[in-house]
Amino acid sequence: MQIPRTMRAIEITEPGEPEVLVIGTRAVPPVGAGDLLIRVAAAGVNRADVMQRRGSYPPPPGASDVLGLEVSGTVAAVGEAVSGWRVDDAVCALLAGGGYAEYCAVPAPLCLPVPGGIDVVDAAALPEVVLTVWTNVFERGRLTAGETLLVHGGSSGIGTMAIQLARAFGSRVFVTAGSAEKCAACEALGADRAVNYRETDFVEAVREAARDGGVDVILDMVGRDYLQRNLDLLNVDGRLVIIALMSGATAEVNLATLMRRRLLVTGSTLRARTVEQKTAVVDAVRKRVWPLFETGRVRPVIHQRLRLAQAAEAHRVMEASTHIGKLLLVT
Ligand SMILES: NC(=O)c1ccc[n+]([C@@H]2O[C@H](COP(=O)([O-])OP(=O)(O)OC[C@H]3O[C@@H](n4cnc5c(N)ncnc54)[C@H](OP(=O)(O)O)[C@@H]3O)[C@@H](O)[C@H]2O)c1
Repeated sequence: MQIPRTMRAIEITEPGEPEVLVIGTRAVPPVGAGDLLIRVAAAGVNRADVMQRRGSYPPPPGASDVLGLEVSGTVAAVGEAVSGWRVDDAVCALLAGGGYAEYCAVPAPLCLPVPGGIDVVDAAALPEVVLTVWTNVFERGRLTAGETLLVHGGSSGIGTMAIQLARAFGSRVFVTAGSAEKCAACEALGADRAVNYRETDFVEAVREAARDGGVDVILDMVGRDYLQRNLDLLNVDGRLVIIALMSGATAEVNLATLMRRRLLVTGSTLRARTVEQKTAVVDAVRKRVWPLFETGRVRPVIHQRLRLAQAAEAHRVMEASTHIGKLLLVT
């Protein structure tokens, strides 16, 4: 198929509410020697896109200013230094930006084959959440079989993947979520206990469900308001991994808690890492996690597929927080 010179892409007219997202025309990006050019089938929508739209999360230097941190589709062109990929291969990829468009160019090491049994559109739901969960829960948090995990925001894109991967690797999982419907969805995905944090104190409820006092690892996206309670809930040698700060970034804690129970507090962002650092995570995920999709043990949870031109509506849904799992923009 011929590659056009221009493409449809979502533009941000100015920082603001969802209606600043409009469909525009951009040049199809050039393919670097180490890149794949992807003909996008779908782009995943992430909470970070909402922050970027509002102007509070600028793209890193060198990245496209078009929103979109993950896509799926087919290979449209292969950079001259790339081996192992052919035109028309089904692919999904982690991007530093540029996914809300009909084409995007990506360093080949950040591309993964669409797993067997997964629809090419649905594969857009995988890269950002799988890589984030892997590097935070399993690499930084060092969750191992037999340990327990608490995931805040269990019904989020990230949460729905964290539940399934932790279960697949032999852990018991507890989650918090903001409604009875979300809690039921999390338990259907494999969570041992989902706590509606709007009605029930999660510390007491998780303590009771965990039976041995606390949990070994917590994946947190709330930040300030949960920090001391998270520390209170960790077992000896427990690990708290922070990936977002939805309630605020600064907090006061009782440091004695860390010493008494030998706790570790860590966190990370994915987007700011170098291509080499991201490649290491992609390689680990391809080896350890991709086979779980092939066998159907783990699956992407898709809340809604919208058209690319409906990017504003997708952001409204995400900000209303009524979704369970991922939102996709289909080209
Ligand atoms: N550090 C990284 O590398 C990295 C990478 C990817 C994502 N993230 C972060 O991970 C989070 C999840 O991402 P996503 O794309 O999966 O987003 P998402 O689907 O929109 O999930 C956000 C979740 O947060 C919950 N929530 C919202 N406000 C809350 C509050 N004040 N207190 C408690 N829970 C709240 C919502 O559930 P309820 O309605 O049930 O409260 C929702 O399920 C985002 O904050 C994102 O920025 C970080």
